[in-house]
Amino acid sequence: MSNSKGVIFDLDGVIVDTAKFHFLAWRKLANDLGFDITETQNEELKGVSRVKSLEIILGWGGVTLTEDEFMEQMAMKNDNYLSYISGMTKSDILPGVSEIIDFLKENDIPIALGSASKNARNILEKVGLYQSFDAIVDGNDVSKAKPNPEVFLSAADQLNVAPENCVVFEDSVAGIQAANLAKMTSIGIGEEAVLNEADHVFTDFTEIEIDFIKKLVTK
Ligand code: G6P
Ligand code: MG
Repeated sequence: MSNSKGVIFDLDGVIVDTAKFHFLAWRKLANDLGFDITETQNEELKGVSRVKSLEIILGWGGVTLTEDEFMEQMAMKNDNYLSYISGMTKSDILPGVSEIIDFLKENDIPIALGSASKNARNILEKVGLYQSFDAIVDGNDVSKAKPNPEVFLSAADQLNVAPENCVVFEDSVAGIQAANLAKMTSIGIGEEAVLNEADHVFTDFTEIEIDFIKKLVTK
């Protein structure tokens, strides 16, 4: 295990603004089942796997489904989500993200994706970033969902970087907790009030100075 640094990016809500599409698709599902969900409730779904998210939502609505109905709702949610993201291109990469990825690549800092999404590879292909990542760990590769640190520990392992030398960018509470449990430096992208367990919080990537990244990955 080398002493060098590595950087792990979450996908939804960090590299691309797909968090809003997950919310829209979950909200449609809830509405179809006769109840509504709020943006505040949605914070609890960020970073959470598809199965777990549906369990949580059904709990909110007080709805019980058979196993077949459960599978059917999951499939419908994903179909809706896929239709929302179908037109994504390079231009959907959130502002400031490409500059940071470019800086890391130019400085030979390995980067990994650590996402709960089973659609992660598809989205990275769409926005032209698939080849940029040295390792990709997504919802197809892990069994324990964030806040369990498995996804980030596996990413660090694939980068051959010690967990404590990894920096994680995350927009979800569950993801920040996972990074903290993995003993990594956690950087929240979003609201300070929501992501207060993170080591640092920025509203978005345009707020992050390259000098800040430089210090994190070289110290
Ligand atoms: C990410 C998102 C969650 C989503 C999960 C699974 O963690 O933040 O909102 O539920 O991935 O995504 P998937 O694309 O597999 O349904
Ligand atoms: Mg996210």
